[in-house]
Amino acid sequence: MVRLFVMLGLTVLLAAAGCREEGGADGVELPEEGAITGPNTPTPYALEVPAYLPAPVVDAENPMSVEGVNLGRRIFYDTDILSTDGTMSCASCHKQELAFTDGLNRSLGIRRLEGNRSAMSLVNLAFNPNGFNWDGDAPKLWKQAIHPVEDMLELDNDWEEVLRKLREDADYPARFRAAFGIDTKEEITQELTIKALAQFERTIISANSKFDRVVYQNTDFFTEEEQLGADSLFFVENLAPGVLHPGCGHCHNAPGFGDNKFHNNGIEDVASLDDFPDPGLGGVTGNRFDNGKFRTPTLRNIALTAPYMHDGRFKTLEEVLDHYASGGHNLENEDPNITGFTLTERQKRALLAFLHTLTDESLLTDERFSAPE
Ligand code: HEC
Ligand code: HEC
Repeated sequence: MVRLFVMLGLTVLLAAAGCREEGGADGVELPEEGAITGPNTPTPYALEVPAYLPAPVVDAENPMSVEGVNLGRRIFYDTDILSTDGTMSCASCHKQELAFTDGLNRSLGIRRLEGNRSAMSLVNLAFNPNGFNWDGDAPKLWKQAIHPVEDMLELDNDWEEVLRKLREDADYPARFRAAFGIDTKEEITQELTIKALAQFERTIISANSKFDRVVYQNTDFFTEEEQLGADSLFFVENLAPGVLHPGCGHCHNAPGFGDNKFHNNGIEDVASLDDFPDPGLGGVTGNRFDNGKFRTPTLRNIALTAPYMHDGRFKTLEEVLDHYASGGHNLENEDPNITGFTLTERQKRALLAFLHTLTDESLLTDERFSAPE
């Protein structure tokens, strides 16, 4: 069963502001300078969400339309519009074949400058109510896109320049009109550009992994090893004193496999709360106790998104398990669920096998998310 969420209310656009009284010499109205012609009524986009996922967060400020999603997809992949030297787009760091990550520990921007953090996967963003980026500093998905365009370590562009190119383009103005009902090129703004990007990003839903097929769709079976990884390790909480389990599902809980909340998961060995090289949430809230806390990322497609953590410090999932097994560094704000545990070789293999069931191959080639023609 697929639930349909109609995201677009009827937007009544009052064209009055764009009209001009004065006509030409013969009384015929001249088109306004920069006027755009063509269809201007966006078609509501119905986001298809499987019944086993939660309802998407509705953003009343950015209702989705078919034309808006198409426009956002085009911009997402457009190197000419987005980067100063025409070499990069959003997709340079968010590659579909890597579940929208880049395979690097820290992203490389234009001129190959290294950024501060690892690129995040862009799946299931429509379900996150808690702020975007590793530290949650972008309150809305559409506001998130302001920064990568202008950051010198990313696309190093100037929004005025992006808008100039969009307005002068042969094709984009009509697409903006179709998506947002605007009348003139001047009305192509940063806000509409990032809103279109977010509309496209919201459509990237990953819900067809083996885990989904076994647990929600009842069309597949776990191997014995995968089952052991799920039942005895991943989802088991540390309920009994003295018996320590991985309990990954406490923060990486189904169906999203990331709780979108902020935790210190114990990776940083620092002397005090003031010594984190990247303060994470603390840099946003200014609260010292939030230093070193990052948003729990999804583990969907985790086998494809190495290296791991906000700074890409772990190259493999084995290294990640070794970290969690070690129990972290006992800093005062470390999450109490980071307890440390011991796994036999067989259990370790089982947990890794389970993590591999979270890969959704259909996502990697789904044409709706690929570069447009
Ligand atoms: C140079 C590489 C690079 C480019 C180019 C880039 N990103 Fe990112 N992206 C990143 C990194 C690194 C992060 C993590 C940022 C942070 O936490 O500070 C990120 C995070 C994100 C997130 C947050 C995901 C989440 O779960 O919170 C979104 C959304 C996103 N990028 C969209 C975009 C869009 C849209 C563009 C194009 C306008 C873009 N990115 C261009 C590297 C890049
Ligand atoms: C206390 C909550 C919590 C628990 C329990 C937990 N994690 Fe995490 N996990 C996080 C947070 C927070 C991050 C991001 C930390 C960072 O990047 O600094 C993370 C990051 C990860 C990443 C990196 C993801 C990426 O995109 O780079 C992997 C892989 C991972 N965890 C696997 C596991 C496994 C396997 C377990 C169980 C052994 C587990 N986690 C238990 C909170 C938790």
